[in-house]
Formats: sequence, structure tokens, C-alpha cells
Amino acid sequence: MLQGGAKFVSNWETVESVPESYVYPPEKRPGNIVVPMAKAIPVIDLSIRDRTLLVRKILDASKEFGFFQIINHGVSKKVSEETMRIFKEFHAMSGPEKAKECSKDPNRSCRVYTSSENYTKEQVHCWRDALIFNCHPLEKYVHFWPQKPPKYREVVGAYCMAMRKLVLEILELMSEGLGLGKGYFGGEMSENPLLLVNHYPPCPNPSLTLGLSQHCDPSLITILFQDVNGLQVLKDGQWIGVQPIDNAFVVNIGFVLQIITNGKLQAAEHRAVTNSKTSRQSLTYLVYPKDEAMMEPAKCMINEANPPRYRSLNFKDFQRNYLPRAVDTKAVMQYIETNQS
Ligand code: OGA
Ligand code: NI
Repeated sequence: MLQGGAKFVSNWETVESVPESYVYPPEKRPGNIVVPMAKAIPVIDLSIRDRTLLVRKILDASKEFGFFQIINHGVSKKVSEETMRIFKEFHAMSGPEKAKECSKDPNRSCRVYTSSENYTKEQVHCWRDALIFNCHPLEKYVHFWPQKPPKYREVVGAYCMAMRKLVLEILELMSEGLGLGKGYFGGEMSENPLLLVNHYPPCPNPSLTLGLSQHCDPSLITILFQDVNGLQVLKDGQWIGVQPIDNAFVVNIGFVLQIITNGKLQAAEHRAVTNSKTSRQSLTYLVYPKDEAMMEPAKCMINEANPPRYRSLNFKDFQRNYLPRAVDTKAVMQYIETNQS
């Protein structure tokens, strides 16, 4: 049963206009402004041989935008596209069927919901349905996953294995660039990734509502695969669109990495807009630390000129405090910052 009698947007019968509870206040609406498609957000070829150059490109993009895209990453297009298709079929199933497929784990490690997990308390609803589940190590969770549509576990399992490999590769490049040394993020900092599937059905008036409100991710990094455009990044007070590129992944910095780097890298705010013509889907691989992992600025990031800007927190406490503040980045910052001024 969904919270507060909600129904999945994908399962609404007719949608002729945007219901009042989905209309954002004017200052938060995307409106009719045309958002420039970012040629600006760097596209990085992961297959380049010059490792020093590759590391530098990743660090530069992370510092300047908190976002970049990667191509030639070694993940087969077939795996990503099959996964997209499976989840489209999943979201097209009836509400009760989706809920039933997600109810196999008594610990609720797989959840399907609409708008956000805060549906009854949020002020405005988001135009999206979401499916979220644990995916590493695979053998610990795969038997709790849905079994419909057919081949779900096989296809999604292959995608999650590919993501794990890719994530470790990117994290290694980043820790090298940050001077943190080998394997810095390979342990508990990246041990509990989740796959979040965002499904945004077509919307009769995309100027009034959002698929996902403005936020920064509570992850170490996030790797996203999108089919059509809709992802926007806030850069110097302006929204820029992240152009879908064939077989590319979007990588962004989350709060956990911001804390570890003592702000050298910062999480960038982003949101998702809807579309009146087609549905849109994104596969968001959120790299989370394990619950007990302590997050704090790395020793080599602090010195006299750079005192710790963030306090030490374990990931579970951080996450619990992030959730009610998710749509208010300033409030999250106040929570993670040290009190010294
Ligand atoms: C997210 C997110 C953007 C998108 O899931 O955290 O920012 O394009 N998604 O769906
Ligand atoms: Ni996000």
C-alpha cells in the first residue's frame, strides 16, 4: 500500500492537467525558460591512455561542475539498454503487481514508491515513480529482487556488476587525483551502493512541476544513465541541461565526497524536469558507504590554512538527518558543517 492513498503516476488513468498537489511554487517551477544544453559539462573519454591526463580531466570537471559525462567506459550498450527496457516494463505493470514484486525481503531492501519516500509530509509531490534496492554484493540481495518482468534478475544483475566495476575504476582515478592513495574509496566508503530507478511519465504541463526537486545527492559519487533529456545542473545560479549522449554515463559528486575532501570537491545541485511527449527514465547508481562508516575530512585535506569544515559523522546518522532536509541544501550544509566559524 502506498502512503496516504497515493497512486503511481504511471498507473493514473487519465492525465489532462497537473493536479494542484504537483504544482510547484512559482520560484521553484521550471517555467517556460529554455535551458541551454550544456556543451559545458565535460565529456571524458575513459579509454585515453595517458592516465595523468585522464586523472586531471576528471579532477578539473569535478571541481568546476561537480558533474561530468564519461564515454568509452567499457560497459556494453546492450547491458544498459536491456536494463532500461526491463525497468520500463516494470513501471508499466499494475500498482499491486509492482508492490508484490518488491515485497520479497522482510527488511524491505527493495522499495517502490511514488514522488518521494516522504510522500505524506512533503509540500509538493514530484512527478515520478521510483524503485530502489540494494545491489552489492549481488548474492546477498538478488534473491529479494523482483522476478517480473522475465529475466529481471539476470539483466539487472549484469548491470549492477558492470556498475560496481566502473565505480571502482572511477574512484581509483579520483583518489589518485586527490592524492589520497590507492584503494582509498574501495572499502567501506563504497560498500553499500543502491540502484534507484526514476521513472517520469509524460506530463501535460512540464512548466508547472518537477520530476525531482533541486537537491544534492547524499552519496560518495553517483553514476546515472538516462534515456532522454531532463536532468539539469545548477551552475553559478543558472540551470544547464545535461545532454543525453548515446551510451554515456553521467557522474556526479555527492555530499560524502565533499566531506572527505573537506570541500575541495563539492556536490552540485541538480533536478529533473518532465516532458510532455515521452516518458523519461534514469538509472541512478548511488555509491553509499556502509552504515557504520565514519565520514570526515581526510587527514591530507586539512592543514593550518584549511581547518576541517565538516564534522565527523557516521553514514547512517548523516542519512537519517539528510532525508528531511533533502530539498534544502543550505539546511544539509548547516547540519554537516563544523560549528567553528
Ligand atoms: C537522483 C537524480 C536525476 C534524474 O536520482 O538523485 O538526481 O535525471 N536523478 O533522474
Ligand atoms: Ni540526484
